[in-house]
This record gives sequence, structure tokens and C-alpha cells, in this order.
Amino acid sequence: MNVPKIVVFGKNVSEFKGDLLVAFVAADKKNKFICDDYVATVLKQFAGQADFEAKNDEQLLLYAPFSQDKAFLKASRLLLIGLGKKISRLKPEELFERLRVAGGNIAKVCKKNKLSEIGLWLPEVKGVEEAIMARYLVEGVGLGVYEFSSYKKKDEDEYQGLKKIALVNVSDEQVVTGEVERGLNNVRATQTARDMANEPGNRWTPTHFARFATDLANQYKLKCTVIEKGEMEELGMGGILAVNQGSHEAPKLIILEYSPAKPEKTIMLVGKGLTFDSGGISLKPAQGMMDMKYDMCGGAAALAAMEAVAREKPSVRVICLVPSTDNMNGGGAIKPGDVITHYGGVTAEIENTDAEGRLILADALAYGIEKYSPDFIIDLATLTGAVIIALGHHFTGLLSNNKTLTKALKDAASLAGEPVWQLPLHEAFAKQIKSEVADIKNTGGRPGGTITAAEYLHTFVGKTPWAHLDIAGTAWDYTSKSYIPKGPSGIAVRTLIEYIRKVGA
Ligand code: BES
Ligand code: MN
Ligand code: ZN
Repeated sequence: MNVPKIVVFGKNVSEFKGDLLVAFVAADKKNKFICDDYVATVLKQFAGQADFEAKNDEQLLLYAPFSQDKAFLKASRLLLIGLGKKISRLKPEELFERLRVAGGNIAKVCKKNKLSEIGLWLPEVKGVEEAIMARYLVEGVGLGVYEFSSYKKKDEDEYQGLKKIALVNVSDEQVVTGEVERGLNNVRATQTARDMANEPGNRWTPTHFARFATDLANQYKLKCTVIEKGEMEELGMGGILAVNQGSHEAPKLIILEYSPAKPEKTIMLVGKGLTFDSGGISLKPAQGMMDMKYDMCGGAAALAAMEAVAREKPSVRVICLVPSTDNMNGGGAIKPGDVITHYGGVTAEIENTDAEGRLILADALAYGIEKYSPDFIIDLATLTGAVIIALGHHFTGLLSNNKTLTKALKDAASLAGEPVWQLPLHEAFAKQIKSEVADIKNTGGRPGGTITAAEYLHTFVGKTPWAHLDIAGTAWDYTSKSYIPKGPSGIAVRTLIEYIRKVGA
């Protein structure tokens, strides 16, 4: 994890002496630059050469001296970032994403040139608040500088990453600092989720999930409960226990609670914490199986979001449940044809042991609803390969039984730059998972695989407003963006935080 420290530098840009000063240039209708006078002077030197037109996504790196007026800037490099035309007429979500992408591009320059301290020279663009500008740029840079190198030998003089961002040309320090802190909370939580996901299956087990939650609870005075295997047996959590049968690692159900003084509503988050999915007896093919260490990304996203919740203290109660186990092939493993009983008594026939995510989520949903009576439930899971066929790596699948929640989540996702696409729930799909021998079965065949999986969960939430996010296509190999690294993306963390901020505002 590397979250750069943010300092407010004041107005006097010529005093900034760091490795790199970043200046932003927008363009007006007639392609004239909208920027500081000094930057305009610098740019005039290139007039006619069309090296830089301030288009969105365009950038130009210059080395000192930047112009005849040598004394003016003391930074050693000047990076000009194009913001494109009509920046003040963009929809909020478009503006935020443009700024994040710019931030990601800045992060790339930092990595390439091994820069540890940079200045962001905030431009004065009509219609765009400086605090918003600062917040989303910082978010983009912070998300973009992420790297996971825990298991690589380090040289002593190795680059330590970007350490400090100075915000230059700030008018209202208080407002900017407040907004930037939200951006940083998004960065911290997303980096945390990526860190968890990057840990391999042997180093991120249910025990590690539990330890993380306990530590977070101690640090921020949250309540943490870990339901261990013995208690699961007493409670009858047949889904989690079944998936765990072939494993040497004990399963855990991790519960983290944030309760403000007088909460009006309760949001319940449930994340799939499958620390490695071999498929079980319905074994997966060897190719690509390694990626199944990421099958805990839903749980990681839910827990990581709690970090931001704990820091920001919204006025809504948030309960986070992460059922966690791996899905292995030991002698006790469940077999196709086995029948299990979920928490609350619903029986299920196991048709395919690789459809295990829904089994552990079902217990957590049923238990959470009974225990916490939530007003809204959001579950997150790398649940089906089918969602990749449907939506590629560009959209998270959203399925819900409630219009209000759907709208709110879509809005939050769009502001977060994490697009979701809704798929239907329908009785016809629920029929596909009717079983001859039990109440339901755990697969509905290949057709509509994402939807039948959601219908399985639907059985356990009934009428409680609920939304299911299938992040199998977006939790890693996510659509390419400057601020998304290779490997786990930390998807849905920022959507959750955004959503909770709105409800708890
Ligand atoms: N964790 C997988 C889903 C998955 C597959 C996520 C590929 C990301 C990439 C899940 O447990 C699973 O194996 N689902 C099966 C369900 C099927 C057996 C009904 C699937 O999608 O193939
Ligand atoms: Mn599976
Ligand atoms: Zn799985």
C-alpha cells in the first residue's frame, strides 16, 4: 500500500521545487488554451508544431528550463496534461472520470521517472470547483500508483513510490482538504482490497480475513464477530460447512458492524470470501485456475469499504458479512448429488461443486437478515463465468429485487467510474434451479448462468430490498484504464463507499 501524503502548498507556484510540477490545460471552442499565463507562454514556443493541443488524454513532459523566463518555475520537470474541450459542460460522472484518468496518467509518469514528490498546479476552469478537481485528480493518482511487491526482493536504493503530492494554487484550503480526504479514503480502501486479493491462496485464508476485520475493529472501535466452524455447526450453516468439507483450513463467517448513535437505516454488505476455488470434485481445468485466488474479491471489497465507513462515520448502520473458506478436494469434499441444508432450513441439491459461491452467500444472507433486519442488502461476488460472456470485462452485473436500491446503486457506480449493467430476475430463471429431490439445486444449466445464480440468492432474501453485484468480469482483468493496475482492480469498493455516503448523508 502506498498512499501519498497530501499537502496544500499555497498560491506561489514558482516556489515549488519538487521533481515534477503538473499543469492542466483545457481548450475552449476555438481550440484556445485555458491555462495559466506562464503555461501559455511555454506553450507558445510550440506554436504551429501541434505537439500539444490540450486534448483529453494528451500529455507533454518538459524539462527545465521551460521557457526564456528561467527564473519562474523551480521544479525540474513540467508535465502538461490536456483536459479537452467543454470540461465545464460535462456531466459530473464524466468530469470525475476524466480527472481520475488524468491522475492515472500522472501516476504512470511518476512510476516511469521514479518521482517521489510532485505538485499539482490546479487550473482555474470556470464551472469546475477546485476542490472537485483536487479530489478526483488525487484519487486517480492514488489509484494509479498502486503496486504489489510484497514477495519480491528489494534493493536498498529501490524507488519507494510517490510519497507526497503538493496542491498548488488552492483558494479555499478547508474545502479542498475535506474533499481530498474523501478521495484518499477511496484510495486507501481500494488499495486495501487490492492488497488482500493479491495475496495468494496460501497467504490469504479465512484466518487472514478474520485478522484483518479484528484489527480494523480495534483501530476504529467497530464490533467484530467471527463465527467459527463449531458455532456454524450449531447454527446449521450447511452451505458454508459443505463448501469447506474438502479443506484443511477452517471456515469463518466474519461480521463487522459500524453503528452510529441513532441510525435510521441499516445497510448490510455481504461479500464472497472464497480464498481459493479449485472447483472441488467438479474440478476446474488447470489453465487459469491460478486466478481463483481472486475468488475472494467480493469479501475484500466489502471489508475494505468498512475502512472508509469507519473513518467517515456516516449516519447509517453498516453491517458487513464475509463468509470465508476455500473450495478444495479433500476426502470429505461434497459430491455432486449431495443434499445440504442451509441456515434457516432450505435444502439444496449439489449438482456441481464448483457452484460454491452461492452456497456460502446463502447462509450469510439468511443469517444476516434474521440477526440484523437490514433495510438494504448489497452482496458482491465473483459468482459466475457467465457474466464475463454477457458483459465482458467492462461492466459489473447487477441484479436486484428493488427499484430504489437499483437506481441508487447505478448512480453511485456511475459516479465512481465503475459501470454496472442490470440483468433481469424472473420466475422463469428461478424455475431452472428447482430440484427433483430438494427445495432447490445449485446450478440451472448454462443458459442465463448469471441470472440463475442470482435467483439462488434471491430465494434467501425474499422481499428485503437487495442487490447482487456479480464482479467476476471486473474484479481483475478489468477494462483498461490509466488508474487500474494489472491484477485485481479493487472494483466495487468505491461504489459501495459512494452509496453509503449518500444514504448516510
Ligand atoms: N468463482 C467462480 C466464478 C468465476 C469464473 C469467476 C471465472 C471468475 C472467473 C464460481 O465459483 C464458479 O465456478 N461458477 C461456475 C458456476 C457453474 C458451475 C454453474 C461457473 O461460472 O462456471
Ligand atoms: Mn466455483
Ligand atoms: Zn467461486
